[in-house]
Formats: sequence, C-alpha cells, structure tokens
Amino acid sequence: MDKTVVVTGSGQGLGLVLANTFASNGWKVIGTGLKPRPENMDQGVRYVELDSSNPDATINFWRQLKDEIGEQTVSLINNAGGYIGGGLLELQPEDYIKQINSIYLTGVYMSRGLIANFNKARLFNMISASAMKPLKDNGAYGAAKTAAAHFFNSLQQQYPPEQYQITNLYPDKMATHGEDNTAMSPKDIAEFILSLAESETSFYLKDAYIYSLKK
Ligand SMILES: NC(=O)c1ccc[n+]([C@@H]2O[C@H](COP(=O)([O-])OP(=O)(O)OC[C@H]3O[C@@H](n4cnc5c(N)ncnc54)[C@H](OP(=O)(O)O)[C@@H]3O)[C@@H](O)[C@H]2O)c1
Repeated sequence: MDKTVVVTGSGQGLGLVLANTFASNGWKVIGTGLKPRPENMDQGVRYVELDSSNPDATINFWRQLKDEIGEQTVSLINNAGGYIGGGLLELQPEDYIKQINSIYLTGVYMSRGLIANFNKARLFNMISASAMKPLKDNGAYGAAKTAAAHFFNSLQQQYPPEQYQITNLYPDKMATHGEDNTAMSPKDIAEFILSLAESETSFYLKDAYIYSLKK
C-alpha cells in the first residue's frame, strides 16, 4: 500500500507526535504548520509552512503533491486547531475568527484540495469531546469543533467509503502540553491513528469517542 500522509498543525503537540510516529514507521510525511519547523521533528518529515485555512495556498499545495507522487491513496490528518478558552465578553471577535479558521476552515480547505486531486484517500479528523460538551469557557472552541464535526459527517454522506474513508475522532483530554496523569498519551493516540491508516480490512472506523482509563 502507498504510504503518504499529510498532517496539519504538525509544529507542536499531537501533530508533531503524529508526524514523527508516521515517519519512524516508514511513511512519507508532509507536515504543515504556521511557525518555522520545530527542532525536535524527525528528519524524515518534510515540513511546509502553510496556513491550512488559506483556500488558494491549500489548492496549490495539493496540486503540487499530485504532480510529485501521482495517483495513490493519500492519508490526511486534519489535526490543526488550538484551544482559546474564555467567556463571551472575555473573548474578542478575533478569537472567534481564529477558532473558526484554525479548526473549521483548515479541515474544509485541506479536504477540498485533497478530494479535488486524489481519487482515493483516508481522512482522519481530530475533533474533540468538547464538540458535544458545552462548558462555560469553551463556547468558541466547541462551536468550531461542532461545525467541523457537522462538515465531516456531511462528507461521509457525500462520498462512498471505498473511495474516501472518513474517520472522525472525538478524544477527551490529551497530555499534549506537559505531564498530566489523567490525560491520554499523545503517543498512544498517534499509534492508534497509525494502525487505522495501515489497516487493510473489509470495514473502517466511522466515528470514535476516545476517553482516558484514568479519571
Ligand atoms: N489537547 C487536547 O486535550 C485535545 C483534546 C481533544 C481534541 N484536541 C484536538 O486535537 C488537535 C491537536 O491538539 P493539540 O493539543 O496538539 O493542539 P495544539 O498544541 O494547540 O496544536 C495545534 C497546532 O495547529 C496549528 N495550526 C493552527 N492553525 C493552523 C493553520 N491555519 N494552519 C496550519 N496549522 C495550524 C498550530 O500552529 P501554531 O502553533 O503555529 O499556531 C499548532 O501547531 C487539535 O485539533 C485539538 O483541538 C486536543
């Protein structure tokens, strides 16, 4: 099987762990991010500074990748995001726009560019348990995640899974920013997604709700 994966938001956190995990398992990995390449990224990862919420830049990105690798089954992990917490009057208008751009529009434009250029693909979408759990501080973040969930659920209706396997992942808290004994290990999550990307079964995982063993 072809082994090319694109990971958005690979400059830190889970995205960096995903990029390094796939690279160390023999995958051709292209990671995107806003900041310069992180020092602790595996040398096998090709890092591209790309705003994945930019429609023109993302179309160009996918066209170039198609020219380079030709027709094959590509995997895309829509991981870009970033939590901005706060109540209605604490958050500023630019915070709401940033959440929609980084969470929802990155998923829309990266998926659009992929599907416009490749006939078969696997999409893994990092949504969040927050999409179903309104809290007093997660209005902007959770709303953007709910929008992303709705969008990817709609894509699952638009395309047959034999062509585009679309897996929506709803993890609870992950320890992506330092030690946290009750949060899930990003490495475990990355290895789980790797196993899905490498699976050759007669079925696929449509939605997964992922919770820590520890409370
Ligand atoms: N951590 C958790 O507990 C948790 C739980 C459930 C779901 N999630 C979701 O899982 C994913 C990874 O979580 P995380 O904690 O690793 O997130 P994170 O540390 O905040 O990293 C998110 C990454 O996305 C990048 N990004 C934002 N906008 C982008 C854009 N327009 N184009 C390209 N990259 C962009 C950021 O780049 P810059 O740093 O350069 O801005 C950052 O590297 C996110 O979607 C998050 O919402 C996280």
